[in-house]
Amino acid sequence: MPVSAGSPPGTIQGLGSGFSWKDGILHCREVSLEGMAREFGTPLYIYDSEGIQARIREFRTAFQGVGFLLAYSVKANGNLAVLNRVGRAGAGADIVSGGELHRAISAGIPPERIVFAGVGKTVPEMEAALEAGIYAFHVESEGELKLLEEVASRHGVQAPVGIRVNPDVESPTPHEYTRTGHAASKFGIPVAKALELYRSAPDYPHIRFRGIDVHIGSQIVKVEPYLAALETVLSMVDRLADEGVELEYLDLGGGFGVGYSGEPGLPLEELATRVIPPLTSRGLKLILEPGRSVVGHAGVLLIRVLYRKESGGKTFVITDGGMTELLRPSHYGGWHRIVPVQLRPDARHRTVDIVGPVCESGDFLARNRELPLPEPGDLLAVGTAGAYGFTMASNYNARLRPAEILVEGGAPLLVRHREKVEELIRGESIPSYTRDSGDSAT
Ligand code: LLP
Repeated sequence: MPVSAGSPPGTIQGLGSGFSWKDGILHCREVSLEGMAREFGTPLYIYDSEGIQARIREFRTAFQGVGFLLAYSVKANGNLAVLNRVGRAGAGADIVSGGELHRAISAGIPPERIVFAGVGKTVPEMEAALEAGIYAFHVESEGELKLLEEVASRHGVQAPVGIRVNPDVESPTPHEYTRTGHAASKFGIPVAKALELYRSAPDYPHIRFRGIDVHIGSQIVKVEPYLAALETVLSMVDRLADEGVELEYLDLGGGFGVGYSGEPGLPLEELATRVIPPLTSRGLKLILEPGRSVVGHAGVLLIRVLYRKESGGKTFVITDGGMTELLRPSHYGGWHRIVPVQLRPDARHRTVDIVGPVCESGDFLARNRELPLPEPGDLLAVGTAGAYGFTMASNYNARLRPAEILVEGGAPLLVRHREKVEELIRGESIPSYTRDSGDSAT
């Protein structure tokens, strides 16, 4: 198996450093994945608590030269236990819905560390966030600003706001769906319009303009697009300051790329070196909203091989996990390392497709992948699945969403139970027939 050059000995490329083989069996820290499969079943999400907390420390260390809030992006992994540990490590949250607000607060993240983005906030969501007392709303249209003014006025409060600016930069993300910084995306407000809104502050007595925000995309491994976006918003900050509009923070968003196959992710220190001086000189606090780069490497999806078959010159390895558990390969062409849990030095290597049980040809976890040929019953671990794994899981084909385990202090802690069939139909009902139902069969 490939071992990463610059990583600690034994590190498996494309898996976090918390995962390694011990005596031929893959472990998360001291806990065997074979044992966890036996105890909790598969498919199973496994998160390395220490790995998550270490990443947050890395961010805090890199940005210690500036007033800093790490607003962890809940959409990457919103499990309550994960959010709780993220909060205890000093982070806040970047949310995009009332549901994420509820999750963050239920997990103990202080509301004054929460920022709320999203192009389609509703009145109940605004009300809930105002009542909670979040740090800032990241407003994405003039219509939203007007509505927020109305809602805040009705509640007799001022809403803290940062305008999410669309800086019109090209962000080189691996898939067009994860680019958000170009003018033709639905996100943010163009620079000229955003300046106009800040200047019209007197028209919004229940809005307090507190900061400015950009988020240019996801899985970006280069510093340059961030610097281009930074330059744009800093020049806005300076113009506004000249006109007497003082802002308190600059949010540079998230999107920091990770190495799915072991390649380097975004160089944090380099970003910090370039970003800190212009912020400190202006007395601005920095907010970052990383999601993937906090939890991605700290998670794997553990699956079991059900069957193997040959067809059309291909070898299919059919597992109990697929697009309903991990959508990324199918939806974005995302590439995830897949490794055997039990090392078999004598296994033949073959090129295979690893597919799930879902009734879609697009249901695959890997295509044309060279792998030690797994046997039915074998366990496989899908790497870098801590981000956008469980949060994008679905019940399609009436499949049960997997259990989630947090490995901490040498123990596997069940932090979400495997969904049960009863839960699948919870909330549904069958209306009783009336004369007008049009069915005469009974
Ligand atoms: N802030 C905002 C406003 C966002 O929209 C996002 C991600 C983030 C922060 C966090 O980005 P991160 O640091 O995790 O890259 N499902 C896709 C990724 C979608 C990202 C959406 N927004 C994937 O699996 O690649």
